[in-house]
Amino acid sequence: MPDLLPVGVSVRDLVGEPAGGPLLPEERAALGPVSEQRRREFAAARRCAREAVRALGLVPGPLPPGPDRAPVWPGGLVGSLTHCRGYTAAAVAPRSGFRTVGIDAEPCRPLPRGVLAKVADARERAHLASLPPGVPWDTVLFSAKESVYKAWHPLARTWLGFADAALVIDPAAGAFTATIGVGGPVTGFTGRFAVRGGLVLTAIALEEPCA
Ligand SMILES: CC(C)(COP(=O)(O)OP(=O)(O)OC[C@H]1O[C@@H](n2cnc3c(N)ncnc32)[C@H](O)[C@@H]1OP(=O)(O)O)[C@@H](O)C(=O)NCCC(=O)NCCS
Repeated sequence: MPDLLPVGVSVRDLVGEPAGGPLLPEERAALGPVSEQRRREFAAARRCAREAVRALGLVPGPLPPGPDRAPVWPGGLVGSLTHCRGYTAAAVAPRSGFRTVGIDAEPCRPLPRGVLAKVADARERAHLASLPPGVPWDTVLFSAKESVYKAWHPLARTWLGFADAALVIDPAAGAFTATIGVGGPVTGFTGRFAVRGGLVLTAIALEEPCA
């Protein structure tokens, strides 16, 4: 994940099953009663986030989920978390340089039957069919849309459905663009992807325009 994001975004990741880690009281209270697996992934993501915050030269604090499940980052920071089987990551950046960040990881395999029709329209499905074979492009699209949602939601505070972003993947550049089809704070995102180590990784970092 780190090489998918620009300089200035601090990224920490963990490969393998999450061993968990300590939670701060605010985090424990917000998480509530959950399965051991959920507690471990939640804690592993916070461990990555704390390391990423420390790498920015800051002292990490609690990172509870808000009512919409989005992590409540301390003032001055934007960031994003992801976890899937065998992988956990956190990306954190100063708000002075970045408007929003969104990251996602998925196992590198095709989507379950029937899912693609729910997350991609006919034009996107035709686009995926035109891409070189050997990569589960449906999962790249799905993950990119998850990254779009994680980048969009902290800015807009509104729902964004799978039909509300039109994805185009550039396989040679390892990049994608998402055109947002609803009104809001941004009209689109560009992001990067990688397919390696049994994972599909996608990442977006929207920089603040220079003053
Ligand atoms: C929220 C969602 C994107 C999470 O993705 P996922 O692949 O299921 O799970 P991941 O492990 O990659 O990410 C989970 C993390 O996302 C973050 N997250 C959850 N809701 C969020 C939100 N509203 N905004 C930003 N980040 C959010 C959390 O940090 C969560 O980890 P945590 O619960 O341990 O804190 C997904 O469950 C969802 O609701 N998708 C529907 C919306 C969507 O994708 N629309 C497409 C728009 S084009």
